[in-house]
Amino acid sequence: MERRFSFILLLYVQLNIAACGVFPEPDQSIRVPRGWSPAERLPNNDSVILTFALKQQNVEKLEELVGRVSDPDSPHYGRFLSLEQLRALVQPSVETLRTVRTWLEEHGVLNCDRIVTGDFLQCQTQARTAEKLLPGAKFVRYVKGDKSVVRSSSLYSLDPDVASHIDFVGGLHRFPEERRVLRRANDKQEEMTAEFHLGVTPTILRQRYNLSASDVGTHPNNSQACAQFLEQYFEPADLSEFMSLFGGSFEHRLEVDHVVGQQGGRAGLEASLDVEYIMSMGANISTWVISNAGRHESQEPFLDWMLLLSNLSAVPWVHTISYGDDEDSLSAAFMQRINVEFMKAAARGLTILFASGDDGAGCRQIAKGKNVFRPSFPASSPYVTTVGGTSFKNPFQVTYEVTDYISGGGFSNIFPMPDYQVSAVSKYLKSSVKLPPESYYNRSGRAYPDVAALSDNYWVVTNRVPIPWVSGTSASTPVFGGILSLINDQRIKRGLSPLGFLNPALYRLRENGTEALYDVTEGCHISCFDDLVLAQGFCAAPSWDPVTGWGTPNYPALLKSFL
Ligand SMILES: *[C@@H]1O[C@H](CO)[C@@H](O)[C@H](O)[C@H]1NC(C)=O
Ligand SMILES: *[C@@H]1O[C@H](CO)[C@@H](O)[C@H](O)[C@H]1NC(C)=O
Ligand SMILES: *[C@@H]1O[C@H](CO)[C@@H](O)[C@H](O)[C@H]1NC(C)=O
Ligand SMILES: *[C@@H]1O[C@H](CO)[C@@H](O)[C@H](O)[C@H]1NC(C)=O
Ligand SMILES: *[C@@H]1O[C@H](CO)[C@@H](O)[C@H](O)[C@H]1NC(C)=O
Ligand SMILES: *[C@@H]1O[C@H](CO)[C@@H](O)[C@H](O)[C@H]1NC(C)=O
Ligand SMILES: *[C@@H]1O[C@H](CO)[C@@H](O)[C@H](O)[C@H]1NC(C)=O
Repeated sequence: MERRFSFILLLYVQLNIAACGVFPEPDQSIRVPRGWSPAERLPNNDSVILTFALKQQNVEKLEELVGRVSDPDSPHYGRFLSLEQLRALVQPSVETLRTVRTWLEEHGVLNCDRIVTGDFLQCQTQARTAEKLLPGAKFVRYVKGDKSVVRSSSLYSLDPDVASHIDFVGGLHRFPEERRVLRRANDKQEEMTAEFHLGVTPTILRQRYNLSASDVGTHPNNSQACAQFLEQYFEPADLSEFMSLFGGSFEHRLEVDHVVGQQGGRAGLEASLDVEYIMSMGANISTWVISNAGRHESQEPFLDWMLLLSNLSAVPWVHTISYGDDEDSLSAAFMQRINVEFMKAAARGLTILFASGDDGAGCRQIAKGKNVFRPSFPASSPYVTTVGGTSFKNPFQVTYEVTDYISGGGFSNIFPMPDYQVSAVSKYLKSSVKLPPESYYNRSGRAYPDVAALSDNYWVVTNRVPIPWVSGTSASTPVFGGILSLINDQRIKRGLSPLGFLNPALYRLRENGTEALYDVTEGCHISCFDDLVLAQGFCAAPSWDPVTGWGTPNYPALLKSFL
């Protein structure tokens, strides 16, 4: 009885709020991820940080512009915008700025930071004030081990007068990322010949992807970055130890040029992996590490990274990011707006690479006995390049590559299929012999990944100790990113623009059948382990497929086709 009563009361409260407010993210999951538990209702005077995504202008124009500057056949190819020019295009209208500012001031929210493009506002205020500002929000401190975050246990609403000026408010939902790199020992200890290797190192990668000792960066203005949002540190001593063990055969840097985010404490495996491999492939190229260590407990680390990009006029050309969340755990408003942020990056000529994820096609139960695949975001954004994973056919030799069964891939339920991939994906869907049942995925969605690289059996140095068997698409992503940085280097040297958003050029290139990428045609990735139908998602096939994309890089040929 008591439970039912409180349920009715809750319903009443929700309806009451709905009657006077607007919910910008009605579909946002407020499920608390496993491992986190509520510790306390946040004291009224504790501070929270809210991030307001202000409505932008000219989003359609931005989209058209990105189409032109990323299309190698357009006379506008490579004519990127500066951050100032981008601001002139997308900054919110005077009316939006005035309405939101007045509303915040009326509530006593005065401590706000802006960014160059003017389309985000980040404000610090007290929990009590934030709850009045955003009716419905209830701030709770959640803990997991020694970590704590502040999130709202219920959906927030906005005053109808301001709702049309705000896409969403960050700092209330979306818990920090859970994903970790995998460690898998290899079970196939067979066929050890004279040429065997004991795991993937820079030498093995450079051999497989045809990089010679002289394929290193030479241009002082080139740069690359890796970003990760686990609460991890990167330890400079690990990089020098890694390079002294594995970096003997090519010119490389021993130091990261720029670290964004406070560092200190114990190094994390993921942070070490990213830095060590982007700096081994994009060797001798100035490198940034962006991490969220030391953030405020009410911030969203991934969102903060997006703000950072739009607040710095000089950022690296290539960014590799190990972050991903299930599409179904995020609101459509959030994903749509983040997708616009990727368009903004593309307009500036930045190349953004995301790992495709380590769960194959993924799996989500939507009803008893009924499963569907589970796409991951931002991997599913049409404005990023998504990197899947492969293994060597013989794990101890530099052979051809096959699917790594964990390689994330599939079809978005949010973003429709972009034009650049329609013909490649239709060809796959038409010619593939064993597709999963159609009820498992959305054939009209953005399909990913776009490319792949080895993702199995890496060596990483962390806390000064070499660690074997590190796996996952968070390994393949910095590898592919470093190779694109080398191509940028050669392009900049010749007075050409950096590559920018790669996909339109990539899909066109491959449709004309160059040898720039090694096609991966063997193996399938995992998906639902249900007894009903299948334990297998999609399978690799000739040319593009939703497991390994177009395949893995053959550097000399890839360079040639992008010059
Ligand atoms: C919040 O209020 C409590 C009790 O009134 C007080 O002890 C505490 O110092 C205050 N904290 C801050 C950060 O103002
Ligand atoms: C953007 O950069 C400016 C200048 O460096 C800084 O004052 C401001 O706090 C930054 N904005 C955010 C939201 O961090
Ligand atoms: C790349 O390396 C492979 C194996 O070493 C070799 O067969 C191939 O010719 C090379 N391709 C290019 C374009 O250099
Ligand atoms: C490494 O890069 C610097 C510029 O950042 C360049 O001057 C130097 O020649 C490069 N080293 C090699 C071996 O190419
Ligand atoms: C590097 O960039 C700076 C600033 O944009 C420019 O002045 C300089 O000429 C560039 N260096 C080279 C080698 O192109
Ligand atoms: C399939 O994707 C489209 C967008 O491409 C979307 O409009 C539709 O709702 C999706 N269907 C399902 C069942 O998610
Ligand atoms: C690919 O082929 C089409 C049609 O033949 C042609 O228009 C296009 O320019 C080619 N693209 C490249 C990158 O070679």
